[in-house]
Order: sequence, then structure tokens, then C-alpha cells
Amino acid sequence: MKKKVIIANWKMNHDFYETTSYLRNLLKIIYENKIHHKKKIIIAPSFPFLHISNQILQGTTLSIAAQNIHQMENGSYTGEVSASMLRSIGIKKVILGHSERRKYFTETNDILIKKIKISLKYGFHIIFCIGETGIDRKKEEHFFTVKKQLEKTIFHFSLEKINSFIIAYEPIWAIGTGNTASPEVVQLMHQYIRSLFLNKYGETVSNDLSILYGGSINDMNARDLFLQKDIDGGLVGNSSLQMKNFLKIIQS
Ligand code: 13P
Repeated sequence: MKKKVIIANWKMNHDFYETTSYLRNLLKIIYENKIHHKKKIIIAPSFPFLHISNQILQGTTLSIAAQNIHQMENGSYTGEVSASMLRSIGIKKVILGHSERRKYFTETNDILIKKIKISLKYGFHIIFCIGETGIDRKKEEHFFTVKKQLEKTIFHFSLEKINSFIIAYEPIWAIGTGNTASPEVVQLMHQYIRSLFLNKYGETVSNDLSILYGGSINDMNARDLFLQKDIDGGLVGNSSLQMKNFLKIIQS
């Protein structure tokens, strides 16, 4: 049985004190309640707190992910953070392709390919986000959009790299809106995504691939989503900001 993966994407939230006290409290509760072996829990705090966060979680079953990586090795890119910098403080996971990065920071598929390349070079595990807009879905083009996103990014990479990926299906119309996609709608899409990996990379890859759902997950809807056959966990934004809510989602 694959372990469910639950990721907290804190986006641009939580300062130093909030980050460190959240993580210490979360660890304590997770270990006291012996849920640390049952789920794979990953937290993605902001850049300045990755180092201290990683130290707090050292030697535990929880881990830290960065929310972004720059596509170049190093150089004159004011304000950016490289893969080697993150590796030098022990970070081994990164979220790439998030729709907010695509929208606000114009990350194209070509840039994402570069980001994937440099992340793989430095041995990162990549949580890669895909998902359609509300308009795509209205036009019934959601399957097509998601297929194209994969074909133009991850599907450029060979079979031996694919076990470095976790896929997060995040329909843009569901992110931060309170409009969670229904478990049936998500299951259909996840089944489709898995079939694309089956056709491209074969049965072992497609069976082993973790496909997470993201978009207005909360403690009320998480359980029904996670019960679906092809939903291997969640990428949680707003509802991960309060530890109590995030814990309820973990326990769903
Ligand atoms: P919300 O859970 O706030 O909708 O955000 C989802 C998300 O973007 C996670 O990456």
C-alpha cells in the first residue's frame, strides 16, 4: 500500500516565530499520537525559514520542501535562490509548476523544463503541479489541457527520472476559492493522469506514481477525497496555515 502524502504549501505566509512554533507543536502531536509512520507529511515554508525548519524536522519522518527553485546554476539573478544553495542546507524536495508561479511569475513550460533539469541534477524530488482553468473545464477541454501540460514538461524526461516526481493535480478554479472539486471529478482526472503515465512509461511507473489533489481541501472534504482509488494525498494551501486544521486533514 502506498502511503498517503499530505503537503502543506504555506505560500507567502508565516514569519519566523509562527513557522518554528508550528513545526515544534506539530511534531509533538504527530509523535504523541503515533501518526508519524502512517502518512508522508511534507511542509513547504518560505525560503528564509527552510534551514531552521529542516533542522527542527531532522531525524523525523516529516520533511521540508522549497516552494521554488531558479532555473540557472548561479549568477546575476538578484533575489533568486539556486538548487545548489538549497541542497547545501539539506533541502531535497521542491514544488514546481504551481499555477501561482505560472500566472504571477510567467513560468512557461520551457522555463519549467529548465527548473526540472536543474532540480534533477541536484537530486531533488519534485512535486509538480498541473491543472486546468475554469474556462478550460467549461469548454470541456480539461483533459486536453492537463495532457498538454505533461507532454510539454515531465514527458520530456526519461523513465529513470520519473520516480523523482509526485504529481499534484490542482484545478485553478478550485485554488483558494472554497470550490473544491468533487471526489468523483478528481478521481476521473487522476485516473486519466495515471493512464497517461501508463502509456508513456509503463505499468510500474503508473502504479507507483503518487497523484495528489490540491484546491480548497479542508478538514470536512479531505476524507472523501482521500478515499478515492487514485487520490494519493493532498497539497493543502489555506487549510494548512492553522495547525489544528492541518492535523485534522492529516488524520482524515
Ligand atoms: P488552497 O488549499 O488554499 O486552495 O491552495 C491550494 C494550493 O494552491 C496548494 O498548492
